[in-house]
Amino acid sequence: MAISDAVLPKLNAQSPKPSQTGIMVVHKMKMGFIFILTYMCFLTPAHQAQIPRATISDLSFKNMDFAMNLYKKISSYHDKNIFFSPLSISTSFAALLMASDGVTHEELLKGLNLEQLERANQPELIPKLFQLLHENITQNGSVKMDQSMALFMHRQFEVEKEFEDHIKTFFDTEIKTVDFADTKGSIRFINEYIKQKTEDKVREMISSLGAEIQLMLINTIFFQGAWQIPFNPETNLSAPFYIDNYNVVQVQMMVKEDKFYMMEDVSLGAKVLKLPYREGVAMLILLPNKSIDYTVIDDEITAEKFLSWVRRLQKTKLEVTMPKFKLEQSYFLHNLLPDMGMASIFSNSANLTRLSKDGGVKVSEVLHKAVIEVDETGTIAAAATIAGITPYSLPRIFLINRPFFFFIYHEDTNCLLFMGRVIDPTKN
Ligand SMILES: *[C@@H]1O[C@H](CO)[C@@H](O)[C@H](O)[C@H]1NC(C)=O
Ligand SMILES: *[C@@H]1O[C@H](CO)[C@@H](O)[C@H](O)[C@H]1NC(C)=O
Ligand SMILES: *[C@@H]1O[C@H](CO)[C@@H](O)[C@H](O)[C@H]1NC(C)=O
Ligand SMILES: *[C@@H]1O[C@H](CO)[C@@H](O)[C@H](O)[C@H]1NC(C)=O
Ligand SMILES: *[C@@H]1O[C@H](CO)[C@@H](O)[C@H](O)[C@H]1NC(C)=O
Repeated sequence: MAISDAVLPKLNAQSPKPSQTGIMVVHKMKMGFIFILTYMCFLTPAHQAQIPRATISDLSFKNMDFAMNLYKKISSYHDKNIFFSPLSISTSFAALLMASDGVTHEELLKGLNLEQLERANQPELIPKLFQLLHENITQNGSVKMDQSMALFMHRQFEVEKEFEDHIKTFFDTEIKTVDFADTKGSIRFINEYIKQKTEDKVREMISSLGAEIQLMLINTIFFQGAWQIPFNPETNLSAPFYIDNYNVVQVQMMVKEDKFYMMEDVSLGAKVLKLPYREGVAMLILLPNKSIDYTVIDDEITAEKFLSWVRRLQKTKLEVTMPKFKLEQSYFLHNLLPDMGMASIFSNSANLTRLSKDGGVKVSEVLHKAVIEVDETGTIAAAATIAGITPYSLPRIFLINRPFFFFIYHEDTNCLLFMGRVIDPTKN
């Protein structure tokens, strides 16, 4: 993994510890720059932008398709837990779109599924849509997402003024000049900058640097979701979780009883449950029937299906039992995206002339790291939420004791913020 553990401390961690993992990255960095994506998107509300004709819902849908494709790519490599932030990844590549031209630009557009939103006479449309989407999601300062993005550039490396302006306007990002020849000084400078930007949450972003770095983009974000209805904090239930026919682990289960939105996808052989966070964000859980192998579901997940589940949810009284879990996952997207048609940006034929007229620039690495902790926490007293339930009717049981999928999305825009799969809740 290329980021130290410190990049994404537990949501409430006090003193993240550095690790040696950063070293691996920098050895691999030759030319171009490395993107360290950590958590989610990095757009910050800037100026009141005009609403373009394409809407943020169009963008959300396109992003979701990209997310599902990426999910399938990741799941084809292993059968472990998965967790990533599609919006973060799309947003970072939206910044790269502004840097690219020619074939590289076309590949990115196609790979990100954004071709239909590109307007030849409106090069700023896509970044503007990302900006608006982010404004919508974080309106009223409701969804808590601490984010930062920074670009570190070798001082000998000439960045186009227009790109610098755009990245400032749409992504609220500064370009910092660094003398990468002074490795120790650069590391200190970058870590200090990130520490400051993340208000001390990330103290040791990097622990080493390679020799030929020209440009480095660092993006951090923290999402803190509190359940609308907290799980009962007094339930301390240890129960089996059936990973497959042969493997069972003991996990800490959380329990809550209330009215929930759920549905059954009979053709898929799975049940869907919505667990609302506060502030217009929800987790959608997809639980395959006992007899259904989750790998079958992997192939069936699409943006269209997701939206149909959301549309068909119905209110039902339920007792929900689910495991506590924490996921911390890293992905080398430069290994995944070429298979999805985005190859040239990582190759010697990368066309990043809008970023710099200096030739030979390419993206060496794209690392995405995401962390989530799912526990009982909510802010409304548990007792209050039970009100309204008729005491004599027994609730149906929704027991999550086998591999499941989850999607965290913004309800107004259907924007997919996170996506994951839990095979073994005892593993990160
Ligand atoms: C990048 O793409 C533009 C537009 O297609 C083209 O004019 C330019 O020559 C390309 N530059 C490189 C270095 O490939
Ligand atoms: C919960 O149960 C575990 C063992 O089952 C125990 O070690 C732990 O102390 C309990 N926690 C609380 C808060 O009761
Ligand atoms: C899945 O289980 C539900 C009951 O929980 C049942 O109604 C449905 O028919 C099952 N589907 C399949 C394909 O087994
Ligand atoms: C944001 O504020 C508006 C008006 O103040 C309110 O209608 C809306 O529900 C709020 N959105 C969220 C997600 O809380
Ligand atoms: C956010 O987007 C949704 C869906 O397009 C829209 O209904 C809502 O009015 C938007 N909210 C704001 C504050 O722009």
